[in-house]
Amino acid sequence: MTEPEPSGAQPAGLTLGQIDAQWEAFSSEIADAQRPEKLEQLRVKYLGRKSPAAAGLKQLGVLPPEQRAALGKRLNVFKVEVERRLAEAAQRASAATSRTAGPDLTLPGDAPAAGRLHPITQTMQAILDCFVPMGFEVVEGPEIEYEFYNFDALNIPKDHPSREAFDTFFVDAPTDRPREGARLLRSHTSPVQIRAMQRRRPPLRIVVPGRVWRPDPLDASHSFMFHQVEGLMVDSRVTFADLKGILSAFLTRYFGPGTATRFRPHFFPFTEPSAEVDIACSACRGHGCSTCEQKGWIEILGCGMVHPNVFKAVGYPADRVQGFAFGMGVERLCMLKYGIRDIRVFFENDLRVLEQFQ
Ligand code: DAH
Repeated sequence: MTEPEPSGAQPAGLTLGQIDAQWEAFSSEIADAQRPEKLEQLRVKYLGRKSPAAAGLKQLGVLPPEQRAALGKRLNVFKVEVERRLAEAAQRASAATSRTAGPDLTLPGDAPAAGRLHPITQTMQAILDCFVPMGFEVVEGPEIEYEFYNFDALNIPKDHPSREAFDTFFVDAPTDRPREGARLLRSHTSPVQIRAMQRRRPPLRIVVPGRVWRPDPLDASHSFMFHQVEGLMVDSRVTFADLKGILSAFLTRYFGPGTATRFRPHFFPFTEPSAEVDIACSACRGHGCSTCEQKGWIEILGCGMVHPNVFKAVGYPADRVQGFAFGMGVERLCMLKYGIRDIRVFFENDLRVLEQFQ
């Protein structure tokens, strides 16, 4: 017995059922096809010139009209769907390739934001750079100090107003530690003079950068924490002329040649005689303005010849050594050099300000 011809003459070639079978086969093959070559093979196999679908299309012309329409429609859907699935698979494959390929190392990198030194650090270094070539060595000391170093050894009497609790940040109660005195946040860098002299014999030339603390209310010219650079020179013969020569050389180097300076008598407990040094106000060139409080001059530093009591406190023979000392505020020097009017900008960490200091 032979198989009966299916009723309703199907042409030799492609049947509707075979198109379905083609679709099934294509669907399962494309499910795990990824590489572009494999996708191209599938396209040739299912839509190429020798594919059953192509053969089916060729037959259409010889079919009776009602069959032609049904088969034509189905073939068309098959073709459109196969193309769509192939395109989708190709897109997935290329997305996966670019993911696994990683970043493009040939692209220029993002430049990391370069940090820079804080203007106060820069100013401190500029000050030290003036003294180091003149034979001064850079020395540092503790920020938490004893009363002995901050006051007593510097010939500051017990009843001096700066020793009041509202002028100094005390860490201990005043009666603690009867020998060295209470601990405090140092109110100036001068105690490092004492520490340096206790550690070594003259001759001595040191500069001391550091942070100091005073409980002043914050305003445009006061901060509870600021910086100083201290200086000390001790030898068998050091005169006020040495002090004047060295400080004048510093001021010329820091502020530029032609900056007028003056030494004005003053009082400090740890020096005798003592002076304050002013520079001519750069804002008004000495005529008087708001920057210099109408004085025409701006105070820059304190200085003087080391008091014999200070030498005695460290065990130096006061009759055989001489020395000078000085101290200056770093914020103030920085503000004057760059025309900054408010000390608070140094401590607010506003990058728009800080970035202006290369
Ligand atoms: N220690 C003083 C102050 O903080 C500054 C000073 C003045 C330091 C005269 C010195 C000096 O070494 O000789 O105001």
